This record gives sequence, C-alpha cells and structure tokens, in this order.
Amino acid sequence: MAYHQHPLDVTTLPTWKALESHRASLQNFSMREAFSMDAQRFDRLSLSSCGLFLDYSKNLITLETRDLLVSLAKECGLEQAIRAQFDGEPINASEARPALHTALRRPIGDKVLVNGVDVMPEVQRVLHQMTELVGRVHDGLWRGYSEKPITDVVNIGIGGSFLGPQLVSEALLPFAQRGVRCHYLANIDGSSFHELAAKLRAETTLFIVSSKSFSTLETLKNAQAARRWYLAQGGSEGELYRHFIAVSSNTQAAVDFGIHVENVFPMWDWVGGRYSLWSAIGLPIAMSIGMSNFKELLSGAYSMDQHFLNAPFESNMPVLLALLGIWYGNFWGAQSQAILPYDHYLRNITKHLQQLDMESNGKRVRQDGQAVACTTGPVIWGGVGCNGQHAYHQLLHQGTQLIPADFIVPVVSYNPVADHHQWLYANCLSQSQALMLGKTREEAERELRTQGLSEAEVQRLAPHKVIPGNRPSNTLVLERISPRRLGALVAMYEHKVFAQSAIWGINAFDQWGVELGKELGKSVYSRLLGSEESPAEDASTQGLIEFFRGRHRG
Ligand code: F6P
Repeated sequence: MAYHQHPLDVTTLPTWKALESHRASLQNFSMREAFSMDAQRFDRLSLSSCGLFLDYSKNLITLETRDLLVSLAKECGLEQAIRAQFDGEPINASEARPALHTALRRPIGDKVLVNGVDVMPEVQRVLHQMTELVGRVHDGLWRGYSEKPITDVVNIGIGGSFLGPQLVSEALLPFAQRGVRCHYLANIDGSSFHELAAKLRAETTLFIVSSKSFSTLETLKNAQAARRWYLAQGGSEGELYRHFIAVSSNTQAAVDFGIHVENVFPMWDWVGGRYSLWSAIGLPIAMSIGMSNFKELLSGAYSMDQHFLNAPFESNMPVLLALLGIWYGNFWGAQSQAILPYDHYLRNITKHLQQLDMESNGKRVRQDGQAVACTTGPVIWGGVGCNGQHAYHQLLHQGTQLIPADFIVPVVSYNPVADHHQWLYANCLSQSQALMLGKTREEAERELRTQGLSEAEVQRLAPHKVIPGNRPSNTLVLERISPRRLGALVAMYEHKVFAQSAIWGINAFDQWGVELGKELGKSVYSRLLGSEESPAEDASTQGLIEFFRGRHRG
C-alpha cells in the first residue's frame, strides 16, 4: 500500500505517546538553564546547508526531544513519503495527481515519470520557450503595436500565480536587468487596476495572464479590464498578441481570450499553484532578473531538494523545522507561527508562506477521509523586522499565547547606509534573545529600584515589567539574498510543509476549502444585480445584500 493510502492516526503511535510524557517532563524546562548547563548547545542545535545557516538552539527542546521527534517522523513513514513525492506517486490523492514541483528544478538528463511518460523533456522545452521570450523582451526585439520595446510587464494572477513570483522578483531586485519593470495585478478591486494603469503606457506594456486554470474570477476580470484599457489607449485587436501572453494549463481558454497559441506557456496538473513559481508562472521573475539568474534560483531549490532527500533527519533542515512546528502545535498548544524576515527584500515572504502553509495544511481530514485526531496547520503571520518590533512583538513577548517565530536575516546588506545594517542585525538577534531570556520578577524589581522608585512603586510596576521569556524561535542566517540562496530558502519551507502533512497524514496539495466561497459568490452576485429574486440562505447575508442594493438603486 502506498504511504498516502495508509490510514494512519499519528496520535496512536508509541512515539507520540512518548512525546506526550516527554512534554510533561519538560514543564519546567528553562532555555536559560539549558544554555548555561551545556556550552555546546548552540553547536549541537545548529547546522548549515545550501547557503543557509539554521540556529534552532533557542527552542524548548533537549537532544532527547529531537531524537523522539525524529523517531516520530520515521514511524510515520516520512522517508517513504519523501520518496513517493519525488518519484511522482499520486500523493495528491483527492485529485489523483502527483505533486512534482521538484521536477521543475531538476538538471537536464534526469528522468521523472508521470503515468509512464518522462516529463523532463517538456520541462526543458518550456524553459527554452521562456529563454526565447525573455531574451526578446530584454533585447528590445519584442515590440508593442507602435514598434516601441516593452518597458513594463504586468503579471495578472492571484494566489500562487502571484505571491511566489512577487516574493522572488522583489527579493531579487538587486539582480533586476535592463529596465523592464514588473508589476502585479491580483485583486479584483477596481482601485488596484486603476492605480496601476495610471503608471503604464499601453504601447510599451506586456500583460502576462497567469492562471493555471484560466477560470479564476479575479484574474479573468482583470485580464478583461486590461484588454479594454489597452484598446481604449489606442491598441487594436489585431495587435493584441503583442501585448497579451498567458501561462496556463487551459490553453484553449487562453486562446479564446485572444492570445496566440504560441504565446501560451504551459502548466501541468502535477504542479500545484502555490508550488508553481519554478514553472512558467515564474515568467515575471525571469523578466526581471533574466534567465540565467532564474536558473540559479532553480538550482538553489534543487540543492535543497537533494538535502531534503538525503540528509539524515537529525540534520535535515526542512524536517527539523517541520518537527519543531509539530512539537509546538501538537504538544504545547501553539496555534500560530510568526515569520519575521529582517530584510527589506524579503518583506513578502510572510505572505507567500501564508498561502504555502495555510492552503496546504489547513486540513481537517486525513488522506483516507477520516478526521485528523490532532491540530494541523498553524496560522502563519508576521512581517518585516524591525517594523514588527514597534507593533505586534509586544504580544510575542508578554501575550498569553506561545508563538514560535522564525527570524530570517542576511549578514550583508546590498545597500549599506551608515551603521543601519549593524543595527538591523542587532535588532534581529536581540529579539530572539529577549524572547528566550525574558525578564524575571527579581530583575524587574532590581531595575526599578536602581531608578530610585519607592518600594510601593516597585511592587506596583514590577508585574508589568516581567517578561516570561522561554519563548522559542529559529534563526535562519544567510550571507545575503541571491537567486541560489532564495531558491533554497523557499524550497526549504515547501518541504517543511510537506513533511508536516505526511506526519499528520493529510493531503498538502488540494484546496477544496476555497471552493464554497467561490460558489456562493456567484449567487450573492446575482442577488446584488437583482437577477435572482429568491432571498439569500440566511438573513444576515440578505440584509447586507439589501444594504448594497439600497445604495446602488438611486
Ligand atoms: O482559489 C485558490 C486557488 O486555486 C489557489 O490554489 C491558486 O494558487 C489560485 O487560486 C489561483 O489559481 P489559478 O492559477 O488557477 O488562477
């Protein structure tokens, strides 16, 4: 029986039970003490791979915890699950598909079979097709209707057809080439279209309609708006092919929209939307940084794939991160996970990881349809440091919830300004340190007394100054963002999410939960227009429909 068909309830496994008792034994575990008792803790609980350095020593764990978690992963068949993923087994069981984004970054000469057919020649063909297009745009050979070269590329897409490409192209801005500016149009909100269009000239703009399904409402509406705008600006139907291309697995729908068939870049059903930036969905990335940098991105991801496949779990970054997430979510009651990049260029990584993790692991039944007996994916949130320190970090330090955090920080800045980078790096480290050390009642009182306060004031203020500490975090350090390191970083999180799904026994690659809202949206829309007379299923929705209609009647 393939691993994903195995009806496994992870909570019944002996190691799960052992982890429960181990957790109870760590009730009074103190990271401060663990560091003072073991001078080697940092060395033992940190590792380097693929240009990334991971320090996971500031966690509520001992070496025994790590060993137990690793045993859990093995007992759940994680090794087989990883193999099954890379070998193209249909691990997305509810859609009967493999999840083969890893094939997109494999080198020439590798073979990957899907239903007995090697998909690698097609992957390479599309890379050539991308190289050709990007070269023509960069060399000024792809011209708009007035024979001027393209200066602006607009990616029209949402979800995975937006967040990954946006993260990477903006993170790699120091590698941007030849003055082609990239823009992203995702939301159906007319204001986002309006604001963007005001910056563009139709004659020098190329739109990429990026939609795996070519049926996503927001994307189609924006593509139609862009087309009307292009025509209103002086473009003609006959020259539309110079300004609109598509990336989709639904070639016919793209052709019906008016895009020339040779300008439709294929996608495959074995690549999930949130895992697709490595495919032609990454075209805006390649438009920005060029194909050789795009290939570097792929090879960075490939190096992480090899690490995930081959490194023992004790020193396997994605597996360790996955296990730490399970440790906190399932054994310490953590409900969310903060992602805190201390790097302007990585500011969008939280949004990408939000989709990656929450759309993948926001599941309540296992692959076999049975309810999962434990908590699954956490809420992913966060944002760029230092900004968060002056906003939500208060809750991390003194709130009532345990929120594990991943800090991500480069050692070198692309844009050194005086001593800003030293301060940025210092702030990152001091946050994880403060989370761990906290401030005891004794320390708080001592501090207040040194300020010369009366004993009554000391006692009144001390409880507010106490910071519990002992709050866990990982720190990922890299020299600075490069295509290769970014590829490894993003792939690392993809594998982390997959490893967790395999341990919980859920399917990380479907997303049925988003469908109901789309269906209901259609009937709400008909009621707003008055083309559907019957009231909504509930009074609240009906009341809100009437509110809208009341405003739009007059
Ligand atoms: O509605 C969710 C979703 O299907 C995501 O999974 C996907 O990334 C996004 O919409 C966009 O889908 P498409 O690329 O098919 O337009």
